Amino acid sequence: MLETVFHSTVMEFLPQSAVPLDASGSPDLRVRLNLLIVDSDAAVRSACVEIATSLGYAVQSTADFAQARSLLRGHAADILLVNLPTTGSNGLELVTEVRHLYAQTVVIAMTASGSVGVAVEAMRCGAADYLTKPFAVDELSTALERAAAQVTVDHSSRLLRERLRSSQGLGAMIGRSNEMEKLYRILSKVAQSTHPVLVLGESGTGKELVARTIHAFGPNAHKPFLPVDCGSLVPTLIESELFGYVKGAFTGAVKSKDGLFVSAEGGTVFLDEIGELTLDLQAKLLRALQEKEVRPVGATHRVPIKARIVAATNRDLAAMVEKGSFRKDLFYRLNVVNLRLPALRDRREDIPLLAAHFLDRLSKGQPRKYTLNDEALRTMMRHDWPGNIRELENAIERACALSSGPVLQLGDLPTQLQQQGLEAHRASMAAAEAQPAAVAADVLPLAEMERQAILGAIRLLGGDKLLAAKMLGIGKTTLYRKLKEYGITDPLLDG
Ligand SMILES: Nc1ncnc2c1ncn2[C@@H]1O[C@H](COP(=O)(O)OP(=O)(O)OP(=O)(O)O)[C@@H](O)[C@H]1O
Ligand SMILES: [Mg+2]
Repeated sequence: MLETVFHSTVMEFLPQSAVPLDASGSPDLRVRLNLLIVDSDAAVRSACVEIATSLGYAVQSTADFAQARSLLRGHAADILLVNLPTTGSNGLELVTEVRHLYAQTVVIAMTASGSVGVAVEAMRCGAADYLTKPFAVDELSTALERAAAQVTVDHSSRLLRERLRSSQGLGAMIGRSNEMEKLYRILSKVAQSTHPVLVLGESGTGKELVARTIHAFGPNAHKPFLPVDCGSLVPTLIESELFGYVKGAFTGAVKSKDGLFVSAEGGTVFLDEIGELTLDLQAKLLRALQEKEVRPVGATHRVPIKARIVAATNRDLAAMVEKGSFRKDLFYRLNVVNLRLPALRDRREDIPLLAAHFLDRLSKGQPRKYTLNDEALRTMMRHDWPGNIRELENAIERACALSSGPVLQLGDLPTQLQQQGLEAHRASMAAAEAQPAAVAADVLPLAEMERQAILGAIRLLGGDKLLAAKMLGIGKTTLYRKLKEYGITDPLLDG
């Protein structure tokens, strides 16, 4: 009987508190997790209450789902241990509801033996774990400990996120779009562990910045972050870079040298462009990761390593695995957690924030702050940015270098963007022309406003074009160009 199992072994579990561990791995006694137990079977319920209380949880319990809901409303639980009856869907409804309303609550489902289907359904609805009745004390305490660890990680990743949150993004990363918020949630969670992470994304989406952020927010931030570009080095060089070599291993190896895995100590080795690694090196890397030791080139001995691995690629590794050009086992090893960076065109709402960030950076040391005029920003918002953030950064840098003033214009942007801007302008003019005459008559096209402003200024100043240009805030050559564009030969007489 479950109850007797509990009573007979309860003392064994007393020292093994389920209280969460702090960063150093010791129990964090300041936190007492709230556990809600829901089971209509009084004997199981009271046994679970007893064992959980002895493990250090603040326990509440109830026999029915309605009261469970009201208890949750009054005081959200950290962990919910809920029995799911074989018949009826009330239990599953509660699990789904809790996952939506109280995302921080970790759910453990209890099911009767022989009802695997219910357990599977519960996991699908968001339960983190399940226990099949009858279960032993250690099964319950292990499940609770796992749930407690999850609550702690979730909690500290939330704290980390809040601490590093800026009005524009997270740490050095800019972006407030839903896609980026999702990424920040996973990032702040994985940063706290030392599992391998695979960063995926098109070129220029910020893979290296993500890798650096994971390292900087992690437990070993004070240790080195060592990047290796697997795409630009020849295989023999990558091998000696990563694994090191001994004196005399090859011509020029006048003394032994540690590889990056060893020099990183407990820091991070960033394997950039991992998709470019040859199959031979993939095998050597896999071995290093599995055995946590490396053999320096030319050596007979092996050296232990404890670096964290973050890998990145813009290639489709899963497709490469299918084709046989990337090892499946290495893929799974690196892909413990993956972070997929969105393309900039899929988070256009972040473009103004990113642009402002780059403009601020480029304005440092300048007499006036750079800004973008509306047309230039609108054009940037419409562009697809195949080179993503790097392309945006370059476009802004170029515009600042070319611009004659602090307000960047469409004409300062790369030619392709200028053309897109002009096409959009033409399209909107054509659309305006297609409008009913009455509306069109009330709207003065920008070009016409400009023509009138130029003519008016020159006339007011008695034909002094130099002074007119100055007062209009444009250069003399721009004024002459515009007069030519509008077909004005004599401003005092024409139009
Ligand atoms: N979210 C962001 N906020 C601010 N700057 C960013 C962000 N993402 C990327 N950048 C900047 O964009 C540039 C490109 O980023 P990064 O080098 O990390 O991209 P990548 O994905 O590694 O590119 P590639 O595939 O070309 O190597 C860098 O200057 C980086 O600082
Ligand atoms: Mg890169």
